[in-house]
Amino acid sequence: MPSTLVTGALGQIGSDLVRTLRAQHGAEAVLATDLRETDTSLGGLYEPLDVRDGERLKALIEQYEVDTVYHLASLLSARGEQAPELAWEVNVNGLRYLLEGARARKLKVFWPSSIAVFGPTTPSTAPQQTVLEPTTMYGVTKVAGELLCQYYATRYGVDVRSLRYPGLISYGAPPGGGTTDYAVEIFYAALEDGQYTCFLAPETRLPMMYMPDALRATLGLMAAPAEQIRVRTSYNVTAFSFSAAELAAALQEHVPNFTVTYAPDFRQAIADSWPDRVDDSAARADWDWQPRYDLDTMVDDMLVHLREKLTIPSNP
Ligand SMILES: NC(=O)c1ccc[n+]([C@@H]2O[C@H](COP(=O)([O-])OP(=O)(O)OC[C@H]3O[C@@H](n4cnc5c(N)ncnc54)[C@H](O)[C@@H]3O)[C@@H](O)[C@H]2O)c1
Repeated sequence: MPSTLVTGALGQIGSDLVRTLRAQHGAEAVLATDLRETDTSLGGLYEPLDVRDGERLKALIEQYEVDTVYHLASLLSARGEQAPELAWEVNVNGLRYLLEGARARKLKVFWPSSIAVFGPTTPSTAPQQTVLEPTTMYGVTKVAGELLCQYYATRYGVDVRSLRYPGLISYGAPPGGGTTDYAVEIFYAALEDGQYTCFLAPETRLPMMYMPDALRATLGLMAAPAEQIRVRTSYNVTAFSFSAAELAAALQEHVPNFTVTYAPDFRQAIADSWPDRVDDSAARADWDWQPRYDLDTMVDDMLVHLREKLTIPSNP
């Protein structure tokens, strides 16, 4: 049976994406891969794969007759600053091995870029086509990755599609070392501790999205007819933007005694280099992208699911 392979499948996005793909195509049609030797958390086909090992990647593609790859394996922004060399090897070399495999076996590929491609010279509402001068190694790898994707699409006809995800909020697997992790941590802190120390300043505003919208955007882009995909670097997508203080206030409406203090660390400089908002009109026009969640409906839904997960009773 032709199958779908997901790299970095045990991460924040991968674990939710694998469940969604398996619900659509059947458990046996989706092969999850990640660094861990074994995994039972996702409950289906799993193989260990370090994406820096191009030969193993090729072997798995052949063995499982893979026709579609969601390539999520990556070091994120904060981890990438701590290990820039490794970030390049995983994010750029890993992608290039995959694109070579895609070229040889005519695979369809999804690869996520990020708002980290933008930098201080990008306008505060980032247009689709704009200056890309990131200040982090993560951003550098994402710009290189976007250009690689466009190159393989135009030179070799590889059907590779990409989204510049904003910060993603979810209640499944924890985030893996990014600059927007605070927007997930704060929910757990509100329910479990009643207080949170935020690593960004209160006025820091960033583009964000709730995971169900990110999954809809991903699957919507992959389902669109190829001729509608006019951007082969990566599409801007967004749902809403909020500051750390606005998210704290939205949570305090549900958890009135919740307190937040602010102690910005090295991630503040990363956040300051990114735009406040993203213009995603190209995605809306080309393949009908539209988010469903805004800040309030995201907060409501997150709290319902987290209370269930953490077995915390709802407010009377
Ligand atoms: N989560 C977000 O807010 C966000 C925002 C923008 C872009 N993205 C992008 O989406 C993709 C997935 O992000 P995520 O949030 O799920 O990240 P994550 O850190 O939660 O998961 C990444 C996974 O990749 C795996 N990995 C790391 N090195 C690897 C290697 N050498 N070989 C194989 N696997 C390896 C990790 O074990 C981890 O499970 C990444 O490309 C990331 O840049 C995420």
